[in-house]
Amino acid sequence: MVKTSVSVVVNGYGVIGKRVADAVLRQPDMRLVGVADVVADWRIKLAASKGLPVYASTADRVSEMAKKGLKVSGTLEELLRNGAVDVVVDCTPAKVGARNRELYEKYGVKAVFQGGEKHEVAGVSFVAQRNYSEALGRQFVRVVSCNTTAICRVIGGIHEKIGVKKARVVVFRRAVDVWESSRTGIMNTVVPELQVPSHHGPDAQTVIKDLDIVTMAAKGSHNLYHLHMAMVEVRSKVTVEDVLKVVEEEPRVIFVSGEDGVDGLNAIFELSRDLGRPRGDLYEIPVWKDSVSVSQDGLEVYLIWATPNESNVVPENVDAIRAITELEKEARASISKTDEYLGIVKRVY
Ligand SMILES: NC(=O)c1ccc[n+]([C@@H]2O[C@H](COP(=O)([O-])OP(=O)(O)OC[C@H]3O[C@@H](n4cnc5c(N)ncnc54)[C@H](O)[C@@H]3O)[C@@H](O)[C@H]2O)c1
Repeated sequence: MVKTSVSVVVNGYGVIGKRVADAVLRQPDMRLVGVADVVADWRIKLAASKGLPVYASTADRVSEMAKKGLKVSGTLEELLRNGAVDVVVDCTPAKVGARNRELYEKYGVKAVFQGGEKHEVAGVSFVAQRNYSEALGRQFVRVVSCNTTAICRVIGGIHEKIGVKKARVVVFRRAVDVWESSRTGIMNTVVPELQVPSHHGPDAQTVIKDLDIVTMAAKGSHNLYHLHMAMVEVRSKVTVEDVLKVVEEEPRVIFVSGEDGVDGLNAIFELSRDLGRPRGDLYEIPVWKDSVSVSQDGLEVYLIWATPNESNVVPENVDAIRAITELEKEARASISKTDEYLGIVKRVY
């Protein structure tokens, strides 16, 4: 029987997990059964105080979490055993998801993994606007990382509409997430990733199989967003207007402009807070309109965008749930529902 609504639990209530949980709460065709974690710090206590049932991801954590004053509703395994869950969105740290897969298999529950896991953990790597249909009805899917998602949205759009011969992208990464800045990070330096290509290019190829792409990466001493600079050889001659049209039509990609005073990641961050969304999250990829350029022969395209790493994969997680449960068979239908319920737009100002 075709389902009209699915029950979801989020395992790992960190940067991605808490955002996905909030996004699921906004979908009329999804029910958030609860969230699970292994700690009971302020983030998990805040979830509980918002009225979300909190589960211990592993049985050995129950007493410790309860001792810290958290009301623990049970273990994740009990919840899965009771058949109360259709989909687990696994937002645990990299490589933990791979270990959790066994638990999900044991109870025949579907799961969405994140970009910190290897492609093989799920067998399908996912960006809604590129390969939604590949995930239809699957037990497992992996939403690729924030960087790969951004590359697949922007370069993928150019590839689909114009044809990419070769894409070369420089990924300038944030050093650390905001909430962990007191624990780790670099200061006053730039640290190049010496493995070339960086993993982002091959990762994009798990979604767009025929894309010729090489990426190089470096880490900066900031904690907000990543910045990507792309040089793309295209298959047919284009003008700047042609490229702008493609970017304009691409879902979840927006324009910002230096002319409007958006002169750095800082300005985009402030802009995203002014939009009034939860946590100032930006789900779209902001491309600098003024950066879109074309070589004299019309065969090379250049552009720069920001990757809001904490939030751009959130809509993809929602679409991944719809795809694997077949709540929606069509990518466009799921994307437009998700975008409507999360307030995702094509123009932010
Ligand atoms: N942070 C980002 O910018 C970002 C962007 C895109 C994708 N991702 C990916 O999303 C995943 C989660 O990353 P994050 O940044 O949200 O991590 P995070 O460290 O912010 O959150 C992970 C959460 O999982 C909990 N946890 C740890 N071990 C657990 C276990 N065994 N079972 C259940 N919960 C456990 C932690 O307590 C924490 O609350 C990773 O695969 C990461 O690569 C992260």
